[in-house]
Amino acid sequence: MTAIRAWFPTYIYYKKLQTTQLAAFNRELLKECYQVRDYDVEGQKWSRKNYPGGYTSYQSIPNIQRMSSTFGELQARINRHVKAYARHLQYDLTGRELAMTDCWINIMPRSAVHGLHLHPLSTISGTYYAATPKGCSTLRFEDPRLSKFMAAPPRIAEARDENKSHVHYKAEAGHVVLFESWLRHEVASNQSKTDRVSISFNYNWF
Ligand code: NI
Repeated sequence: MTAIRAWFPTYIYYKKLQTTQLAAFNRELLKECYQVRDYDVEGQKWSRKNYPGGYTSYQSIPNIQRMSSTFGELQARINRHVKAYARHLQYDLTGRELAMTDCWINIMPRSAVHGLHLHPLSTISGTYYAATPKGCSTLRFEDPRLSKFMAAPPRIAEARDENKSHVHYKAEAGHVVLFESWLRHEVASNQSKTDRVSISFNYNWF
C-alpha cells in the first residue's frame, strides 16, 4: 500500500447526451426554450428581479418535464446518465427510486451571471446544454471543503488538477453535466455575443 491515498472524492459526470440524432433533438429543445420564455410572463417578471439580463423558468415553471413531451423525452434520456452516475457513487437504491423532481430553463444573454449556489433538498443536480456560443461562460465548481481549510497555505500554481480549489467545465451544446447537489457552483458573466441556453434539473430519491 502506498503511504498516501486519497479519500472522500467529489465526482462530476460529463458526457454527450446521445451519439445519434442529437442535433435535431437539440434544435427542437432550443425552439421550445424560447417559446416557453415568450409565453411565461410570470417568469419574465421574476427573472427581471432575480436573474438580471436573463430568463429562468425556475420559479414559474419548475417542472417543465411534465408539461412538454420534448422535455419529457429529455428527462428519459438524462435518466440513463443519472443511473450510471448513481452506480458510480454506489448509492444503495434497492427498492428506491431516483427521480427527476425539477427541471427548468436558463437563458443567459451577454453579461448575465449565475452566482455561487448549491441545490438544497436534492440528491443529484445537473445541466444539459442547448446552446453554447463561442466564448460563453464555463460552469465553475468550488472545492466543498474550502470553508474548512482554516490555516492551509495556498496551493502552488502548477498543483495537480485534483488539488486545485476550483474546476471549470466548458459548456458544450449536447452535453450533460451531473454532480451531487451539495456541490457549490457558479456561472460567471457570459461573454458570448449570443445566448447561452441550458436546462437544469434536480433528482431526489424516494
Ligand atoms: Ni445550479
